[in-house]
Amino acid sequence: ALAFVLSIIGGYLFGSIPFGLVITKMAGLGDIRDIGSGNIGATNVLRTGRKDLALATLLLDAGKAGIAAAIFNFIFDFHAGLLAGAAAFIGHCYPVWLKFKGGKGVATFIGMLFGIMWQVALAFAVCWLSIAVAFRYSSLAALVTAALLPIITWFLIGDWFAVGVTAALSILLFYRHRENIKRLIAGSEEKIGQKKKAKE
Ligand code: G3P
Repeated sequence: ALAFVLSIIGGYLFGSIPFGLVITKMAGLGDIRDIGSGNIGATNVLRTGRKDLALATLLLDAGKAGIAAAIFNFIFDFHAGLLAGAAAFIGHCYPVWLKFKGGKGVATFIGMLFGIMWQVALAFAVCWLSIAVAFRYSSLAALVTAALLPIITWFLIGDWFAVGVTAALSILLFYRHRENIKRLIAGSEEKIGQKKKAKE
């Protein structure tokens, strides 16, 4: 039980570092929460026009969750690693440092998977990229991928605890995307690389 508690606290602390906010502030772009969707994730950093910073945000947000999961998997066991990864996801979405107003968990989700279940992470990447390329909505790609993930985890890993954790994170990911879901239904969600409508 102590192993689980330490994994959850450690994972949360890793996950709660808001790299998207820190990176864009350091680059002199102001507060990312005042730009685009207001989210602190890589998709919104991309809306500043800085692809390099968006990539850095993606890698660091994924990395913090992957490292948390891998460390606690190494120190304790696979289930502790899963809890640390899940706690990193929750730390990213609800960081104490930002009054619990954080991101949507897409990068931390794939990152934690890479840290302990690389096969599932690869499936995540393939699924996300296919939908993102086909439809050009970052949020839609994340939502469809998250919906499939518990099933994918069952087929590739076959561990019920892992299926339960991915299912719980997928549900939280949907909840964090509730504004995106409304926009997708209304047809007002911004596409990846969408240019602001120019005057003719
Ligand atoms: O990575 C989060 C993505 O699914 C949606 O981000 O900024 O479009 O709300 P955003």
